[in-house]
Amino acid sequence: MTRKASIIGGGVIGGGWAARFLLNGWDVSVFDPDPQAERKIGEVLANARRSLPALSDVPIPAEGRLSFAASIAESVEGADYIQESVSERLPLKHRVFAEIQAVAKGVPIGSSTSGFKPSELQEGAADPSTIFVSHPFNPVYLLPLSEIVPSPKSDLQIIENAKEILREIGMFPLHVRKEIDAHIADRFLEAVWREALWLVKDGIATTEEIDEAIRMGFGLRWGQMGLFETYRVAGGEAGMKHFMAQFGPCLQWPWTKLTDVPEFTEELVDLIAGQSDEQSGKYTIRELERIRDQNLIGFLRALKDRNWGAGKVLLDHDKRRSAAFHEAGKTGAGAPLAMAEMQVLPGWIDYNGHMTESRYLFASSETSDAFLRLIGADMDYVAKGHSYYTAETHIMHLGEAKLGDRLTGTLQVLHADEKRLHVFIRILRGDEVVASLEQMLLHVDMKAGRTCPAAPEVLAKLLPIAEAHGSLPRPAAAGRFVGQRK
Ligand SMILES: NC(=O)c1ccc[n+]([C@@H]2O[C@H](COP(=O)([O-])OP(=O)(O)OC[C@H]3O[C@@H](n4cnc5c(N)ncnc54)[C@H](O)[C@@H]3O)[C@@H](O)[C@H]2O)c1
Repeated sequence: MTRKASIIGGGVIGGGWAARFLLNGWDVSVFDPDPQAERKIGEVLANARRSLPALSDVPIPAEGRLSFAASIAESVEGADYIQESVSERLPLKHRVFAEIQAVAKGVPIGSSTSGFKPSELQEGAADPSTIFVSHPFNPVYLLPLSEIVPSPKSDLQIIENAKEILREIGMFPLHVRKEIDAHIADRFLEAVWREALWLVKDGIATTEEIDEAIRMGFGLRWGQMGLFETYRVAGGEAGMKHFMAQFGPCLQWPWTKLTDVPEFTEELVDLIAGQSDEQSGKYTIRELERIRDQNLIGFLRALKDRNWGAGKVLLDHDKRRSAAFHEAGKTGAGAPLAMAEMQVLPGWIDYNGHMTESRYLFASSETSDAFLRLIGADMDYVAKGHSYYTAETHIMHLGEAKLGDRLTGTLQVLHADEKRLHVFIRILRGDEVVASLEQMLLHVDMKAGRTCPAAPEVLAKLLPIAEAHGSLPRPAAAGRFVGQRK
């Protein structure tokens, strides 16, 4: 049964939560008194639809239903999870919790607060045990982290349930064991932000130079290994102890400004805003958001290929979805399976500005690889000596994909038995089929170098899909020979 999330406060962060729940198949009800809320959420959702599906290699659930409630009571009615993301003012958050708890009893209430401790949020609440911090990062629909901070009054079962819900929507709940102002990540960011403000104020560096210092170097390291693992490597073979002995003493030197904060005079604000305009004013905020999202997808996919850091969270999420897909018997009965989302990149283009021929095959193999993972014929299976090999491909070019086009690869099983897998792949731009590929794959024992029956657990997943696809209309192009008239 579709579950319901209630999102109270639909700004930048609430919109991101709404998009993440919706695209993971939950129904979402938003309450926000701002008359612009619907438009703003629509824009966040458009960005999320454009980016989030590109991280998945298994069929994603049908999008949930989005509704806008006229009151908090209406929004939380029947909700399985509530996320509060109203403006960062404690009395406002207290009022909101009181309204929520007047109707919703025992439901987890996560707060997106960047700064308040859970015990502060719980003050005066009818039931403090259900209120906790669930602090996400922008864009919530792409970044997995949410810091989960309970207080001693929290119900630990509610916390565990909430963490499980976050995993289900592809997030990484980081359990912060001791409550503290601004949790873990923002304390860290505050220190960096303070230091950066001093560097600008003291005329050492511009906003752009500071950003280059981050994104050309240590920012890339942080994104994949964080701080301690990076420093461990920096210590060389002698490791962490050596690193600390070597660089520890310089922490005593007065390099940093510690907790001194430059005064936010008009002059400093103008200086920073002016430099920022010069650095990034050529883009609108929406353009910057899209650039950010596409870059994040590239990073995240690279990490996913390596089963590392945030990429590991994506792989775990795919595994859950794949298990849910098979358990629910959702064998794609009503339609071919949408297996891959891609974008035509500059390196995919030929001298005519069209997607080059080999990339149609690439798009097709991305689609069939994702399908093979779905049925359990994944890299572990290959490592054990079995695989599907492509024996034959017939490709029809029906349209011209161009730079930047978003493509979806769908797969329909035409026939499958113990050794053979006959598929029809469509590469779509929106609803238009730009190419179709018919393929015969054979299951092989790689060591023996000959075909053999697929493992029973693979067949147990493949054959129900083949049976369900048997009721789909056979594609007109299936079985065509080269040169056949249309
Ligand atoms: N912006 C970030 O990067 C970021 C990151 C993590 C967490 N947060 C936290 O998320 C929360 C929201 O921040 P934001 O950046 O989305 O702010 P925002 O200003 O974009 O959105 C806040 C929304 O709350 C709505 N609101 C105000 N009163 C309300 C009420 N009584 N009921 C329902 N909605 C109400 C406003 O209309 C507005 O749309 C804050 O607690 C903030 O600390 C922000």
